[in-house]
Amino acid sequence: MCGIVGAIARRNVAKILLEGLSRLEYRGYDSSGVAINNLDGVSSHRAVGKVQALRDKFAVEPLDGKIGIAHTRWATHGKPTEANAHPHFSGDDLALVHNGIIENHEPLRRELKAKGYEFKSETDTEVIVHLIHDALKTEPDLLKAVQNTLTKLHGAFAIGVVKNDENDRFIAARKGSPLVVGVGIEENFVASDQLALLHVTDQFIFLEEGDVVELTRDQVTIFDDNGEVQERPISVFNHNVDATDKGEFRHYMMKEIYEQPKVISACLDGRISETKVLTSCFGAESGFLKDIENVHIVACGTSYHAGMVAKYWIEDLAGLPCSVEVASEYRYRKVAVPKNTLFLTLSQSGETADTLAALRMAKELGYLTTLAICNVPSSTLVRESALTLLTNAGPEIGVASTKAFTTQLTALLITSVAIAVENGLSAEKEQELVQAMRSLPAYVSDALSQDAHIKVVADRFANKHNALFLGRGTMFPIALEGSLKLKEISYIHAEAYPAGELKHGPLALVDEDMPIIALVPHNDMLDKLKSNLQEVAARGGELYVFADKDTDLNNEENITFTEVPKVDSILEPIVHTIPLQLLSYHVAVVKGTDVDQPRNLAKSVTVE
Ligand code: M6R
Repeated sequence: MCGIVGAIARRNVAKILLEGLSRLEYRGYDSSGVAINNLDGVSSHRAVGKVQALRDKFAVEPLDGKIGIAHTRWATHGKPTEANAHPHFSGDDLALVHNGIIENHEPLRRELKAKGYEFKSETDTEVIVHLIHDALKTEPDLLKAVQNTLTKLHGAFAIGVVKNDENDRFIAARKGSPLVVGVGIEENFVASDQLALLHVTDQFIFLEEGDVVELTRDQVTIFDDNGEVQERPISVFNHNVDATDKGEFRHYMMKEIYEQPKVISACLDGRISETKVLTSCFGAESGFLKDIENVHIVACGTSYHAGMVAKYWIEDLAGLPCSVEVASEYRYRKVAVPKNTLFLTLSQSGETADTLAALRMAKELGYLTTLAICNVPSSTLVRESALTLLTNAGPEIGVASTKAFTTQLTALLITSVAIAVENGLSAEKEQELVQAMRSLPAYVSDALSQDAHIKVVADRFANKHNALFLGRGTMFPIALEGSLKLKEISYIHAEAYPAGELKHGPLALVDEDMPIIALVPHNDMLDKLKSNLQEVAARGGELYVFADKDTDLNNEENITFTEVPKVDSILEPIVHTIPLQLLSYHVAVVKGTDVDQPRNLAKSVTVE
């Protein structure tokens, strides 16, 4: 939700900032802006729409300067208009960009208005810049004025501040929203995500909660929330920079779908042997596994769906109770924590505000320990959890999560088996499961081979307004994930139900205009699911079935059949995910929507 970039250099920073914004567009893309400090003062451009609209303004009227801040917005307070786009100013000499939400902005706004400040936007952000301006009246040092101001703010923020008479420094700060410092040679930077700065540096400092940072060309000075100077370690980014290129693909989403065999291998690598799960993957403290008596999984969106699958695995393989909950619910209720419960969070980004809040709450509630399954090693979630299992999917740029989901499932499978081994799973069964996992990348490749067929099927969805996804067992969360993917990028209303629930209500929706997407695994539920399909066919519903050939459903009339490889039942949820990702991708392409940056959404949800 919103991305910020800041730079101080000996060269013009405009290009650096614009490139940074383009790389951050996944965080929000309804408007953007840049403020550049040069010897004549602070000048800015703001534009509604994607960063290209801002680039167009620079093409007509370039801005030149060696210190600057920039922002790409995902609207929270106020519509996506130029007036609401950042940077926001107090007077014409102090500019600020902000990611996050200031919860007490209303009383602060009233206070500032009483002091004579005029507001030009509807944003919560504008109060911060006026507060700093006000603080400067009694404390002329910009750094101290920012520090004083931050104590008045409730909520979450990452900010960057420039002032026209400060030609050798700018100030940034974070609390609740991510911010990383990029360290260069005679130039330094900040950004919401290190990806935004990979074109200028590979050296990063991850700021801690409450940190305020003063950046000059030659120095980065970090103050903690007590105002004490702190040394924070520099990390060197080790992803392949090409991971952020689309390569031969038209969209990031398709590139990321096709990367799945490779990244699932990377997720398994070093975590399983020929016969066993290697518990060393949980770090030196893997002793916690034997003490677990319950598991609470908390996550949002797609990550929550991965957690739902894991519930089936943990209860089935380990025989331990497992509950799964969306973080935005968990964080606001009184939670009963049974003895020896593992608190497990799932997050692609590791920056989702609700999941982080849930983790912080859980840490006060007496859980056995906290484990994060996450894709971003440097994320807040990873840093704040006792234990981590990284999914190793590499950067995921498309807003619709694909490879992050299947690698989360892979990591959850490893975790479920590891817990099960401590709860009596036989060595023989462990070996069987590990063998199945080893074949997973190949099966995912097989599933991808249906791409051309699915593209043809997708054409039939172009004029549909609704769709119903059905599954049973682990296929129910996959049906939920399939329906989320379809609505997210094609804007077709879609719902998912456990197939057995059909006759309890949703059957009323079924007619010749309603496509029904049924996920049919080859297990002991097959006959029951076939009966559910009969119920749909009898009411004229248009059936799209995803199953292996041995189910015999490929020869049925009135069924559009897509073959999914026949696999060990433990792998079914992962392998069945692939055709659903391809289906939503092709439907979105046919409909001409913005596949990688669907309307109203953002990749990293760092606000409540
Ligand atoms: O980064 P996280 O996994 O914590 O994000 C959670 C959700 O916001 C995310 O999965 C969202 O639902 C995806 N856009 C779905 O494709």
